[in-house]
Amino acid sequence: MIGKFSLIPPSASTIAPQVDALFWFISAVTAFFSLLIAGLIVVFMVRYRRRRDDEVPQHEEHGSYALEIAWTIIPFAITMVMFFWGASIYASIKRPPDDALHINVVGKQWMWKAQHMEGKREINEIHVPVGRPVRLSIASEDVIHSFYVPAFRIKQDAVPGRINQAWFEATKPGEYHLFCAEYCGTIHSGMIGKIIVMEPAAFQQWLAGATPGAPVVPVAELGRQQFEQRGCVTCHSGKPGALAPALAGVFGSPVPLADGSTVTADESYLRESILNPHAKLVAGFGPIMPVYQGLLSEENVMQIIAYVKSLAAAGGGGHS
Ligand code: CUA
Repeated sequence: MIGKFSLIPPSASTIAPQVDALFWFISAVTAFFSLLIAGLIVVFMVRYRRRRDDEVPQHEEHGSYALEIAWTIIPFAITMVMFFWGASIYASIKRPPDDALHINVVGKQWMWKAQHMEGKREINEIHVPVGRPVRLSIASEDVIHSFYVPAFRIKQDAVPGRINQAWFEATKPGEYHLFCAEYCGTIHSGMIGKIIVMEPAAFQQWLAGATPGAPVVPVAELGRQQFEQRGCVTCHSGKPGALAPALAGVFGSPVPLADGSTVTADESYLRESILNPHAKLVAGFGPIMPVYQGLLSEENVMQIIAYVKSLAAAGGGGHS
């Protein structure tokens, strides 16, 4: 694959053929009109050139409504096709399927750190199964990076201060380039890795395999350990009269805030409420939670979020 020239990257995700079709459509329309206009300029230049020094126009042209309307409506219709086509592909790129496999990814100068929910960690490599949607929660430890896999036609910025989502479904086993596509410092160009797409059985085997030197602990369990070690469980006890809101079942549900508004408890909201809890106070609770900004790494935050997600709606907020 490397060394051979090709006009476009290999196509290895379900979204790739759709992106390519739109890309070729826009390219074809652009080429057609560029050639048409350039061609007409040359034809008119020759055909209507001044033949004698004293030549004057034989009749004056006052324009044509039919022509004006046609070259307004036709390009409008074509660009609307591009817009709605592009918007629909964008919408499907932005909406991960519910059954997607979930992987946390953190960009930092200058590497990509990934952790599977089962606990397996990787650096600059992400193993995924073929034929299964994979959702990535992408954060940054320092500056803006951009997670870019040309073969999958996905690119998502890793922005400090928030958790972004991306997803793909690989269609062919193999190894595919992973780039950082946002200049992030001196070794930006070295911030590269690969996505390794495996057959489902081989992937399961890989996932269950041991990591040298470190026990494989599920992400939600790591989050639970953080939750207890840092004393979160004292207030988020889930018991009546607790000093902090119960967390069971909170993920994905609406949360009433002290200022009267409501937010959906998604990953970005939970992240903010862990690091800067006073930004959006939950209705009925005082600003007593310590600020964890600077005390937790992005990985720790993602682990605590995974723990909160794992709490079923029925149980207490801080079961142990
Ligand atoms: Cu990270 Cu460029």
